[in-house]
Amino acid sequence: MSILETAKQRYSAKVFDTTRKISDDDIHTLKTIFQLSPSSINIQPWHVLITDNQETKAKITQATQGYYAFNEQKILDASHIMVLCVKNEINQAHLDKLLAKEQADGRIPNDDILNMTKTLRDGFLASQSEHPEKLQAWAANQVYIALGQLLLATADMGIDAVPIEGFDVNILAETFNLTEKGLTPLTLVAFGYHSDADFNANLPKSRFELDDIFTTF
Ligand SMILES: Cc1cc2nc3c(=O)[nH]c(=O)nc-3n(C[C@H](O)[C@H](O)[C@H](O)COP(=O)(O)O)c2cc1C
Repeated sequence: MSILETAKQRYSAKVFDTTRKISDDDIHTLKTIFQLSPSSINIQPWHVLITDNQETKAKITQATQGYYAFNEQKILDASHIMVLCVKNEINQAHLDKLLAKEQADGRIPNDDILNMTKTLRDGFLASQSEHPEKLQAWAANQVYIALGQLLLATADMGIDAVPIEGFDVNILAETFNLTEKGLTPLTLVAFGYHSDADFNANLPKSRFELDDIFTTF
């Protein structure tokens, strides 16, 4: 299928078939696609929790009570749930780890490149130090780039998914001790195969027109 056809066909599944599980191979592929997502200065400020365990899914739904109850059944019925988190501290230790990994992977051919990369990144971090909330928003944006890549790839593999921002961040963070782990959950993603009862499967796409979105200048 062309990438355009995949984009046209993908949609947010709202009702999952509880009898179907995603294979371990496909889960490994999805993890790798997430891993390969681009991020600004290759910062990769993310961590992802993943589960197919019913008890863990039930614990996740503690964060989808009340107003968010419309998301509960998707979480319980999906094959796998990912919790896409942003790291709360993009600090020197993170930058050092990143540079060490790039060196190990052969991205840094000489000391000049090493120093240039270090200066660029350290300077960026220093320039943001007075605005930690801007740094966090920037880091979160990188996670959403990975979400987009993940959703398109999922559809290309014939797997259904729905991103779920409709949950209580504080309750989820508390339930899984995420703050202690230095993480903030941004969005969940439920993966699986849609059920015949999925009303959303056959609805037409609705998007603003290209002329509305793009201006040639
Ligand atoms: C970041 C994000 C969060 C979303 N959160 C929810 C959600 O909490 N519950 C839900 O049913 N759908 C959720 N959606 C699905 C959107 O409603 C859906 O993507 C949009 O209506 C476009 O429809 P489509 O994905 O079927 O093309 C979310 C989508 C995105 C990208």
